[in-house]
Amino acid sequence: MSEILQALSDLKPDEVAIPIHICRPEGWAKLQTLLSDFQQTFVKARNFTGEAGQRLRLPDVNGVIEQVLFGAGSQKNDVLGPIRLGGLSAHLPKGFYRVETLPEDWDADLCPVGWGLGAYKFEVYLPEETHFPVLCLDMDAKAVAEAVSLTDAVHYGRDLINLPAGDLGPAALHQATLDLAQKFDAEVSEIIGEALLKQNYPMIHAVGRAAHEAPRLIEFEWGNPEHPRLALVGKGITFDTGGLNIKGASGARIMKKDRGGAAHALALAEMIMANDLPIRLHCLVAIAENAISAGAYRPGDILTSREGLTVEIDNTDAEGRLVLGDALCKAAELDPVLMIDFATLTGAARVALGPTIPPFFCNRKNVVEAVMQYADAQHDPVWPMPLWQPYMSLLHSPIADMKNAGGSFAGSVTAALFLERFVKERPWMHFDVYGWNPTSGPGHPKGGDMFAIRALYHWLKAGGLQSDFSA
Ligand code: BES
Ligand code: MN
Ligand code: ZN
Repeated sequence: MSEILQALSDLKPDEVAIPIHICRPEGWAKLQTLLSDFQQTFVKARNFTGEAGQRLRLPDVNGVIEQVLFGAGSQKNDVLGPIRLGGLSAHLPKGFYRVETLPEDWDADLCPVGWGLGAYKFEVYLPEETHFPVLCLDMDAKAVAEAVSLTDAVHYGRDLINLPAGDLGPAALHQATLDLAQKFDAEVSEIIGEALLKQNYPMIHAVGRAAHEAPRLIEFEWGNPEHPRLALVGKGITFDTGGLNIKGASGARIMKKDRGGAAHALALAEMIMANDLPIRLHCLVAIAENAISAGAYRPGDILTSREGLTVEIDNTDAEGRLVLGDALCKAAELDPVLMIDFATLTGAARVALGPTIPPFFCNRKNVVEAVMQYADAQHDPVWPMPLWQPYMSLLHSPIADMKNAGGSFAGSVTAALFLERFVKERPWMHFDVYGWNPTSGPGHPKGGDMFAIRALYHWLKAGGLQSDFSA
């Protein structure tokens, strides 16, 4: 459990929370008048103006830190909102703090999450642990618990991406899934190795069969069966070499992140379960290492999928859509109200939108706008992309129902169209996440990261599954 957020009322009598004043350049003049003469001189000498990301610790005349100033930048073009607070929590020394002043347009409820997102460092392999500052919250216990759970879930998902593939192979990702299921008393089902063939998951098997650790489909179900059923599906390629169509050095360098979709599905599942949302949850993690050995699947092979469609392998590096195809097919068999998959599926998604806005595909137009609104409100952006049916022709194979790669045009669209063949026309959303920050930004440290799941959590909490999915 995260120790970076707590209720203000939990402070011990001898502990004091240092007030933080967050302001924009527009509001700085007014805030300045509330400071002592000494402090006014101090801030002027240090050029604090409220520009985005400015941090200043204000001492009293004895040199003891009394207040903190933080710049929110101009309101115009502020896409980060309170997530920017992550740029403060990442840098303040340990101690207790509270938000005293904030820009009028900021949603105060998002401050704890912004703080929590910044207070993260992957240090499993480092000798010393960072002690992040604690934000004290003037909120009821339930709101504090929710903020803690959302922060913990994001940190958990980031860890699942940041762990090296040598320590998080198929068996370890399997175990991580079991651990989460057990924590919330979910019912687990495990299909491993040859059993994938017996139980008809040929594509998951083919992708993972060359690896040292067997491929597997791990599922759990949680919640009241009377509640609407939601399926979360994650691409869990623990490392993507590209297979026989091997990647180059720079492409392979960050392919431990190819279990990023699984990390997203598990982290969103954790948010849902920790907050007891009225949902019958079905989480499916399709796990394989796309490795190279004598047993590897080959370009030109034809696989018969669980759905029955035959797929000609054009490129063994387009493996994510194969494991997801079988997993989505299974999810659809149980007739969920909605399926959501997450996958680090294409380099083309990154070319189209860069690393931090995941392309979002949905086969029901009615719900796209609402999800976008939640994404905006939570400062967790997503961007809609078209399931442009004419591009299905790019996946044409003369000797099978389709091939698995569509060439250089619209790569994230053809990947999504491929997946759509496996959802049995059920309501479905697909997020082609990058799962990784190439550089650090406020609330988004370098390395593994979660996208879209806070937006989806809030959409689901507000009754998203009751939407009209008819069109
Ligand atoms: N895991 C990759 C996608 C990826 C690559 C994500 C780089 C982020 C950065 C996926 O399995 C893949 O290799 N996709 C290929 C598909 C192509 C062969 C049709 C790609 O995008 O190049
Ligand atoms: Mn690949
Ligand atoms: Zn991949």
